[in-house]
Amino acid sequence: MRARLNDVVAGELADGGAVPALTCYDFTTALAVVGAAEEAGQPVILLVAPKTAAGPGGMRLISALRGLADAASVPVLVQLDHAADPQLILAAATAGADSVLADGSSLEPAANAAFVAGVVRSLAGLDIVVEAELGALPGDEDDASAAAEADPAAGMTDPALVAGFLAASGAGLLAVAVGNVHGNYKGEPHLDWNRLGAVKAAAGTVPLVLHGASGLDEADLARAAAAGIGKVNINTELRTSTLAAVAEALPGMQAAGQNMLGLLGVWRGSAAATAAWALELLRPGTRNL
Ligand code: 13P
Repeated sequence: MRARLNDVVAGELADGGAVPALTCYDFTTALAVVGAAEEAGQPVILLVAPKTAAGPGGMRLISALRGLADAASVPVLVQLDHAADPQLILAAATAGADSVLADGSSLEPAANAAFVAGVVRSLAGLDIVVEAELGALPGDEDDASAAAEADPAAGMTDPALVAGFLAASGAGLLAVAVGNVHGNYKGEPHLDWNRLGAVKAAAGTVPLVLHGASGLDEADLARAAAAGIGKVNINTELRTSTLAAVAEALPGMQAAGQNMLGLLGVWRGSAAATAAWALELLRPGTRNL
C-alpha cells in the first residue's frame, strides 16, 4: 500500500524498530521481499541500485516495483539508491520511486549540501523524500569485495557538520558513516557508537540511515535501531544467500527438464528467508538489549 517514507520510518522508530531496505536487482527478488513483509505485517523498502536504474529496462523495473508496492497489504516504498545523476533521479521519481538517495558523498560537505538542495528543488511537488549521505562509506554497493582494503575510519560523518548540512540541503533522511562499509568487512566491524549518538542529537527529527548492514552482528543491528537508526540498508547479505541457493539448486533444476519455474521458486524462497530475518531483527518492540 502507499505510504510516505518518513511517516513509515517515524512509526517504526517510535517503538525502537527500523525499516529494512533491501536491494532488488530484479522483480523476482522484489516479489519475495514484499511477500516476507506481508507475512511479517511490517513495512519494507525496495532499493534500486543506480546501475540497475540506468541499465536496460531500469525505469520499467521501477514502475513494476511501484505496482507491486501499491498492491501490497503493508506499506512498501521504492527508493533509488546512491544516485549522483540528477537526470536519473528525475527519471526514477517520474517512473514511480517514493524516495531517492541524492549521493553527493564524493563532494566536500558544502558542495554535497548544494547538490542535495538542487535535487530537492528539482523534485518539488512530487512528494519524494530525499536522503543524503554525509561522510563517505567505503566499498562498492555491487561488489562485495571492494571494501576489504578500505579504511572504515576514513570519511566518517562529522557530527559538528550535521545540523548545518541538513539545514542547507533540505534532506529528509541522513545516511551516516560510523564505521559501516558496503560489502564485506575486513575483520571485525566496529561501529563508533559515540559518534552515532552525537550525529543523532545533531540531526534532530531527521531520521538516520545505516548503510552497509550486511556483515554486522545481529546485536549491532538491534543496537543501531535502538540508537535511533530508522532505516537499515541490506544488499550483500541478500545477494550472497540468493546466489548460494541458486547455485546449489541449479544442477538439479537443469537435470529436471530445465526447470526454470523451480529455480525461480528456490530464488524467491531464499530471498524471502533473508528478508524475513531482517524484518524480525528490526521489528519494533522486540528489542532485548
Ligand atoms: P551491504 O551490501 O553492505 O549490505 O550495503 C547495502 C547498502 O548500504 C545499500 O545502500
